[in-house]
Amino acid sequence: MGEKHLDRHPDDHAEGAAAPSEPDSNPGPEARRHAPATARNRDPIAAVLRDLLPPNGMVLELASGTGEHAAYFASRFPGVVWQPSDPDPQLRRSIEAHRLAASCANLRAPLDIDVTAPLWPLDGMAAPPTAMVCINMIHIAPWAAAEGLFAGASRHLGVGGGSGGGSGAGAGAAGGGLFLYGPFKRDGMHTAPSNEAFDRSLRAQDPSWGVRDLGAVSAMAMGAGLAPPEVFEMPANNLALWFAKPPGGKENR
Ligand SMILES: C[S@@+](CC[C@H](N)C(=O)[O-])C[C@H]1O[C@@H](n2cnc3c(N)ncnc32)[C@H](O)[C@@H]1O
Repeated sequence: MGEKHLDRHPDDHAEGAAAPSEPDSNPGPEARRHAPATARNRDPIAAVLRDLLPPNGMVLELASGTGEHAAYFASRFPGVVWQPSDPDPQLRRSIEAHRLAASCANLRAPLDIDVTAPLWPLDGMAAPPTAMVCINMIHIAPWAAAEGLFAGASRHLGVGGGSGGGSGAGAGAAGGGLFLYGPFKRDGMHTAPSNEAFDRSLRAQDPSWGVRDLGAVSAMAMGAGLAPPEVFEMPANNLALWFAKPPGGKENR
């Protein structure tokens, strides 16, 4: 009640909405925003993350939006510390309000991270992030945001240490990697009419936005030193991608 909602595409290709406002350190429950798609996609996403995320360590979420995913995944994966972030102050306020309501010991207060920034404020972290998670961002931002995301993953991700991931079967079992979720074209073609319509609506809002091509995204990730993605087909014509950081890759904060 009294809580704000973010509008979403029916297939859940989320569009963020945020009016400017100042964050505060102790927002009330009314600061919580809601994106209905998060309730639909969180369990399918968690089912993939379960096999990818290391059993412990730090998970850095980029573009956390409302903070609903952060609160849910922190409770689903109690062995990791979940670090949400978003560059939008009003969304950070929502993330913090969801965090206070969730009372999850392993959920941190949000950081202000714009992925296009050359430096991410990760100084407070005791160790490099073991994994990064970015859901429904790169199509609702300029291409530079995808470039910044992969550059940051390459710079900041810890490298695989053979610690074993989740139930242990996935590519993530070796350790560090970036999880990316959203709609993608394949070989330059849309995979569903709804994705094509969504792409048109995105580009009408901002010509620099749009559904990205899996091949172009993968090439950029590999150029940044990440491994080719493991690809998971997800509901509503979305894909989940896992880009592992190969052992021997550089590691710094
Ligand atoms: C559609 S929302 C998705 C939010 C959330 N991940 C979800 O699935 O509900 C897109 C998010 O991307 C964030 N975003 C846009 N540009 C960004 C950038 N350059 N760096 C980090 N986040 C960005 C917005 O602030 C917004 O929270």
